[in-house]
Amino acid sequence: MKATKKIIIAVDGHSSCGKSTLSKEVAKKIGIGYVDTGAMYRSVTLYGMRKGIVSDDELRTEELVSRLGEISISFKFDQEKGRNTTYLNGENVEDEIRTIEVSRNVSKVSAIKEVRAKLTDWQRHAADEGSVIMDGRDIGTVVFPQADLKIFMTATAEVRAQRRYDELIGKGEQANYEEVLANVKERDEIDSTREVSPLRKADDALLLDNSNLSREEQYDVVIGWLKERNLVE
Ligand code: DC
Repeated sequence: MKATKKIIIAVDGHSSCGKSTLSKEVAKKIGIGYVDTGAMYRSVTLYGMRKGIVSDDELRTEELVSRLGEISISFKFDQEKGRNTTYLNGENVEDEIRTIEVSRNVSKVSAIKEVRAKLTDWQRHAADEGSVIMDGRDIGTVVFPQADLKIFMTATAEVRAQRRYDELIGKGEQANYEEVLANVKERDEIDSTREVSPLRKADDALLLDNSNLSREEQYDVVIGWLKERNLVE
């Protein structure tokens, strides 16, 4: 299966509802690029944490904004692990950006207007080279309002917390379900009430609630949507 022309697929939705898993599968199946924009916000957050300007009880916005020019983020495919890997200034930070410490701080960093402007710009350039599927919170509403297909994913907070918890445990991290659930709910609240680019479903986005759908089932739904629109052959 392949794309019939240069296409852009926007996948937005709540945290931990499997946007990246689905997006990666679709990208692989139809041979297009995949961009994980959450990884970009996480990388900027990690950078700020390492510089001591972002922490649980501190956010030095002006200093972080003035240092944005020092940050470069790139993605490479890790053949050995069979997954995309995020690099921050040339260093592999894929595991570090997924820790609960970074998760706790990322919402406030992603609420900064200048951070969003910078990352939005990079994201638009990522589509210069060809078709992409990009997942995030504002891809269909702000980054690519002209996307060929917009998907808005969601699932209950409990289902999402359980998935995130399993993922952390699977990676050998310490995790507590109640803490993960609280973080999921807190991020929903911050993501959907922030002033700049709040998380919301674009009017023309298709809703995909996967609380009770298997990986295969939701993947089939999306491939069906792509076929209906003649975006794949
Ligand atoms: O998808 P994720 O959980 O890795 O995203 C991490 C955080 O980044 C999340 O709290 C919201 C923010 N984010 C955003 O504001 N806009 C995006 N396009 C992607 C992520």
